[in-house]
Amino acid sequence: MKKIAILTSGGDSQGMNSAIRAVTRSGLANNFEVYGVRRGFKGLIKNDFIKLGTKEVSDKLYRGGTFLQSARSETFKTPEGQAVAVENLKAKGIDYVVVIGGDGSYRGAQALKRHGIKTFGIPGTIDNDIPLTDFTIGFDTTLNLVTELVGNLRDTMSSHERVSVIETMGRNCGDIALQAGIASGVDAILIPEIEPDIEKIAADVKAGFDRGKSHSIVIVAEGAGNADDVAKKIKERSGLDTRATVLGHIQRGGSPSSFDRVFSSRLGHRVIELIQEGVEGVGLGMEHNQITYHTFEEIFNAKNKIDKKLYQVFEDLV
Ligand code: F6P
Repeated sequence: MKKIAILTSGGDSQGMNSAIRAVTRSGLANNFEVYGVRRGFKGLIKNDFIKLGTKEVSDKLYRGGTFLQSARSETFKTPEGQAVAVENLKAKGIDYVVVIGGDGSYRGAQALKRHGIKTFGIPGTIDNDIPLTDFTIGFDTTLNLVTELVGNLRDTMSSHERVSVIETMGRNCGDIALQAGIASGVDAILIPEIEPDIEKIAADVKAGFDRGKSHSIVIVAEGAGNADDVAKKIKERSGLDTRATVLGHIQRGGSPSSFDRVFSSRLGHRVIELIQEGVEGVGLGMEHNQITYHTFEEIFNAKNKIDKKLYQVFEDLV
């Protein structure tokens, strides 16, 4: 019987649980023995495996977070740490490892591959920063959440005739800010991929109030700056009452959206199909609504994927 282990690593994201469930149930249906590794690569080093049956993954599809828990492991980045992890995998007779996570986790998966372990990457991060996939698991849920929170802020900003500067997560990728900004009809979006013009932003915000607007919303991706700084600069230049809000980890929680549940189920299911097709050492994703895969090298060598045309859509509609 072939053995497969699943781990979640890096920042958690909504839909990780449904991906674990999908790999587990598809694996069991195809006579695999399935294991979960607790706390990501840390758990590989600590030999922290749990056996997964169909019951262990029931009631998980719609739950946020990751029931296997996640961590960022510095030890795994060292040759010694990797050697212990590989030894543990070999001792347990694990044939395949599925890593659910973002960029750093993919690098861990590639390291395992270099040691001869057959690995798969499932893109699990709210940041949507993995190339060669249109989406990452959790991005859609976060986008919906941020859009809702921006709406809440608009209500109170409007009552008080204020400018709201809202900081979103995303690390070095501006996709959460950009898409939530378009979905919310905000006045300015600052993303790391495009140099911001703070003078113009402040002038546009001021002009909006002069035309009779009762509020203004500016979204800042964390990779482009911080909300306090931007709020201060806008206040200094416009004289308007300005408030900064950092959305923080609230963006990463909650039940996954239907899209993320279906997407993660398709990805997990596809891993087991790929094993049967003799494919391994790849990261999966979705392109044009098809589940596709690329080698880790191809993914790392691909360019940052933010869609500049989408920014143009925002600029033309603001
Ligand atoms: O990568 C996901 C992410 O939420 C980023 O958007 C953010 O910069 C980071 O993780 C926060 O990390 P932590 O949860 O360790 O504070």
